[in-house]
Amino acid sequence: MPNHSFTLNGETVDVDAPDDLPLLWALRDKLGVTGPKYGCGINVCKACTSLLGDEAINPCSVPVSAVEGQEVTTIEGLADGDVLHPVQEAWLEQDVAQCGYCQPGQIMAAVALLRRTSTPTDEDIRAIENVCRCGTYFRIRKAIESAAAKMA
Ligand code: FES
Ligand code: FES
Repeated sequence: MPNHSFTLNGETVDVDAPDDLPLLWALRDKLGVTGPKYGCGINVCKACTSLLGDEAINPCSVPVSAVEGQEVTTIEGLADGDVLHPVQEAWLEQDVAQCGYCQPGQIMAAVALLRRTSTPTDEDIRAIENVCRCGTYFRIRKAIESAAAKMA
């Protein structure tokens, strides 16, 4: 089977897998990285949102061969040791999570947005398409606004 090498949360990893294996399968089943959640598997729910470089991607719909040599970050790679990322801190302060299932993806989508713009508009925040079955959208918005203010 082909070997695929990329950087995952700051470390080089190698995965033996067919070229078309979804990256989410490689992360969860082969590398044991379970922060990115499996929801729909077809790039709709966004529960698996992670970063490729600074961009949000949905690894259920990206083949592992497409990230060869690139930098993938999951929720596991966001904190700096024991120091949480400001977006994670804002999530705790606003007590965003309910069941928690969608939250790693929500946080990664927020991080990608704040890397694109430090002053997101309401429209920018509304454009995040991550689904939350528990309906935590109001608290997500407050947390993103709070993180943006802190990071400014
Ligand atoms: S599991 Fe990836 S978008 Fe739904
Ligand atoms: S917190 Fe339950 S799905 Fe979002």
